[in-house]
Amino acid sequence: MGSSLLTKPDLVKEILTSLVRNVTLPITCKIRLLPTIAETVTLAQLIEGTGVAAVAVHGRFVTERPREPVHYDYIKAVADSVRIPVIANGASLDIAVYDDIAAVKQKTGCASVMLARAAQWNPSIFSFGKTTANPLDNAREYIKLALQYGQDLGNIKFNLQHLLHFAPDKILKGKLSSAANSQELWCGVVYVCLFSFHLIFIIVNFLAFLCIIKRTLDAGFNHCILLWTAIYLSFGSLAPSSCSMELL
Ligand SMILES: Cc1cc2nc3c(=O)[nH]c(=O)nc-3n(C[C@H](O)[C@H](O)[C@H](O)COP(=O)(O)O)c2cc1C
Repeated sequence: MGSSLLTKPDLVKEILTSLVRNVTLPITCKIRLLPTIAETVTLAQLIEGTGVAAVAVHGRFVTERPREPVHYDYIKAVADSVRIPVIANGASLDIAVYDDIAAVKQKTGCASVMLARAAQWNPSIFSFGKTTANPLDNAREYIKLALQYGQDLGNIKFNLQHLLHFAPDKILKGKLSSAANSQELWCGVVYVCLFSFHLIFIIVNFLAFLCIIKRTLDAGFNHCILLWTAIYLSFGSLAPSSCSMELL
C-alpha cells in the first residue's frame, strides 16, 4: 500500500474490502509503521477486519531509509495482536545466512519473513541448510545466465553490484560502480569471471611462500616442513576450487 494511505484508514478499508469481495485470489497488504505501536496495531487490526489473507509489516517509519535499523518491537506488537499471518519485512541488514531468517521469525513471532535486498545480495539465501554462498560464484553464475538470456548491460551492472555486496574486494566493487561505459563494465565482468581472487590469492600465497623460504634459509634448512607447506599452499591456490572458501 502506498505510504500516503497509512494516514487514510477509511480509504484503506474501502479498497481492501472491495478487493477481497471481488477478487478470487488471496489479497495481502503491506504496511510501514505509524508513529506509535498503538497506532500501528490499530491499523493492522483494521486491515485484518477487511478479510485479507495476510499482512506484511515493513518495520520502518515512512521517513526512514532502508539503511536504518528495523523496529522489531513494532512488528512483534502487530504479530501479537492479529490472527492472520504477519510477514516481517525490512530485516535484510540482519540477514546474511538462511538461519538468520528463522531468528527474525522468532524475534517477531511472525509467520514468515519477506526479503528484498538480502535476496539481491545472495540469491541462495532461501536455500535451507546452506551458509552464505560465495558471492563470486553467484556473480559468475549470474553472468552466465545474463549472457545466455541477453540481459542489457545496465541491468548486469545493477545486479552485479548487489551480488558482490558481501565480496571483500573493494577495488572491484568501486570499479563496477563507477563504470561509465560498456567497456569499463566488461572489464569488471571479465575480472569477476577470470581473475579477481585467484590472482590476489596467488600473489598473497607467493609472498607468504617467499617469507617462509627466507625463514627456512635463515634457520639453516632445519625447518624444511615449512618450505613444503609453503609450496603446497602456493600451488594449491592455483586451483579455482581452493579459492572459493576464502570468499565466504
Ligand atoms: C528491487 C526492489 C523492489 C521493490 N519493489 C517493491 C514493490 O513493488 N512494492 C513494495 O511494497 N515494496 C517494494 N520494495 C521494498 C521491499 O519490499 C522492502 O519493503 C524493503 O526493501 C525492505 O526490506 P529488505 O530489508 O528485505 O530489503 C522493493 C525493494 C527492492 C530492493
